[in-house]
Amino acid sequence: MVALEARHLTKCYYSTVAAVSDLSFCLQEGEVLGFVGPNGSGKSTTVKMLTGLLEPTHGQVVSRGARIEQDLVHYRERLGYVPEEADLYPFLSGREYLELVGTLRSLPRQSLERKIDAMLDLFSLSAHRHSAIGSYSKGMRQRVLLIAALLHDPALLILDEPLSGLDVTSAMVVKNLIKKLGEQGKAILYCSHVLEVVEKVCGTVIVLQKGRAIAYGPPSELMKTAGQASLEHAFAHLVEGGDSAQTARDIASVMSAA
Ligand SMILES: Nc1ncnc2c1ncn2[C@@H]1O[C@H](COP(=O)(O)OP(=O)(O)O)[C@@H](O)[C@H]1O
Ligand SMILES: [Mg+2]
Repeated sequence: MVALEARHLTKCYYSTVAAVSDLSFCLQEGEVLGFVGPNGSGKSTTVKMLTGLLEPTHGQVVSRGARIEQDLVHYRERLGYVPEEADLYPFLSGREYLELVGTLRSLPRQSLERKIDAMLDLFSLSAHRHSAIGSYSKGMRQRVLLIAALLHDPALLILDEPLSGLDVTSAMVVKNLIKKLGEQGKAILYCSHVLEVVEKVCGTVIVLQKGRAIAYGPPSELMKTAGQASLEHAFAHLVEGGDSAQTARDIASVMSAA
């Protein structure tokens, strides 16, 4: 079943140049859809429209047969969102912040406490649970954001660069978790420019360039079409059309020039 559908999404900020232009796709239950593109290609703008934070200039976001703005409260109950950047309250502890999120989500007190403690433990944050978030590293804050998005067991997950700042071990846990949640039937939009990960966890990938989808399909198909052995190379071929090895050589030679 379709969990989320983008229909001709377009967003113009101030200028007439669209940050996202006529973008349409479906996210199915049990699907992990990768959303990739260079910086500024419109990934976060799309995500903000999909979560109801930003109104599209044209087009619609549809979930369960209705436009999301018709019932944002219930839509958000089913949604877990990890934003690219978030302002966490620096004076709250990690545990207090998660209690606040769970309470706003109306989760029953006792099971909320149990869940928070188990999650803090599994994300290796137990030792810091009573310290102020202001003292946390980037990776620790990211893990708090991930827990906050997962606490209410949402059917739909929208993750904007979820591995940002994570160490190798935590990143591996989250990668495996995304796969597992997809297998369980959750619909997941995974937005990233880290292509090795996208290749491993996503069944389908949309490549964005300058706000437009320039490729849409399973990673293996994109690699085949581009005639490349990895998604990273296929992406470079599709998006940049340039030779990154040559650019690297050119930079090195500019550095060493007299
Ligand atoms: N709040 C904003 N106001 C004006 N322009 C914006 C805003 N947010 C993003 N943009 C512009 O929209 C384009 C797409 O940005 P974004 O969606 O953040 O891309 P990505 O997440 O792929 O890096 C960029 O040109 C960016 O400068
Ligand atoms: Mg972004």
